[in-house]
Amino acid sequence: MKITIVGGTRPNFVKIAPLVRALKARKIQYRLVHTGQHYDKKLSDVFFDELELTPPDVNLESGSGTQAEQTAEIMIRFERDLATHPADLVVVVGDVNSTMACAIVAKKMNVLVAHVEAGIRSFDMTMPEEVNRLVTDAISDYFFTTSHYANKNLKKAGIEDSRIFFVGNVMIDSLVWGLNKLSERRTKRLIEGDYLALTLHRPSNVDDPLKLASILNSMMSVGDSVKYIFPVHPRTARALANMDIDTNRIQTIEPLSYLDFIQLIKDSIGVITDSGGVQEEATFLGIPCLTLRNNTERPETVAVGTNELIAPDQLVTHIERICKGDWKKGAIPELWDGRSSIRIVEQLETIGAALNFDQDRIV
Ligand code: UD1
Repeated sequence: MKITIVGGTRPNFVKIAPLVRALKARKIQYRLVHTGQHYDKKLSDVFFDELELTPPDVNLESGSGTQAEQTAEIMIRFERDLATHPADLVVVVGDVNSTMACAIVAKKMNVLVAHVEAGIRSFDMTMPEEVNRLVTDAISDYFFTTSHYANKNLKKAGIEDSRIFFVGNVMIDSLVWGLNKLSERRTKRLIEGDYLALTLHRPSNVDDPLKLASILNSMMSVGDSVKYIFPVHPRTARALANMDIDTNRIQTIEPLSYLDFIQLIKDSIGVITDSGGVQEEATFLGIPCLTLRNNTERPETVAVGTNELIAPDQLVTHIERICKGDWKKGAIPELWDGRSSIRIVEQLETIGAALNFDQDRIV
């Protein structure tokens, strides 16, 4: 079975790395395609290096644009690549534009599609990621899921049980791997003292300067002993550059590499975020997490984990609670054990055998 794996953005690379490691361990051949959606060194190359991910077989260099421009560019370039390098199965991960674009291309070329992190739903159609999730799941053949919520969403959409595989969370595979690397390599913290880590990049929080200002001003209005460390995403950097706001109490830094980022979260007293992956990482690490959104496609991080959804005007109260150590304890969701990629690859082998494909082996 010829397998092509697709990734395009920073969180995709974190999800793909353990999959590639598991494929290599079973000596299974694969082709790795980078769509080029994320192209800054700090959002792309650094992740390949640190996650010890072999460089992609091709970088399609699709780049930025409006939602339609970016999606169209990825589709055009991936269609050419898949025509030149045919596959039996395309593996897409997560919910970004690259995920949906490549799933559509593969399906229209009659290639099987496996979606890793299938079935999650925010039920918020204003998020581009929700559209990507719905479209990808509507046309995928195999669904690898992180939670029972995801299984339920897929079944409700009419997907047969036999195509849904509850395997756990590949993001946590990388986290477990990264924590081991950190303990081998480092003895020192990245930042000394108590601090909260902040990440913000969703259009709903950063594209409106008034909203972004209200978030940052709330944070700065909490007692002046609280320190914030803020690795800034390019989209947010552009928004900040156009605003006249004094963020003196918030230490802004460049986007961090993977290991530095998980160290930042691990050593923090709490996290403020609007990212999906960070909600999962904080849950696994047992770190209090404030998510600045009305909804989450990862409800297990609230039901089982340390995450709470909050509005900007609730920030002060919750930051004060975290500083006092007044936060729920949280547990780790089922099968978030660092072995999800192994389960996925075993399942792919079973699928290949059932379809009478020969498995190409690395020799
Ligand atoms: C994308 C994903 C989002 C994911 C996030 C992680 C979609 C719809 N969104 O959002 O789900 O959580 O990645 O970061 O796919 N830019 C750079 N350098 C880069 C990449 C982007 O400067 O390497 C700039 C672009 O010019 C663009 C902006 O950042 O205007 C946003 O990039 P884009 O890839 O469109 O979406 P993200 O906000 O990163």
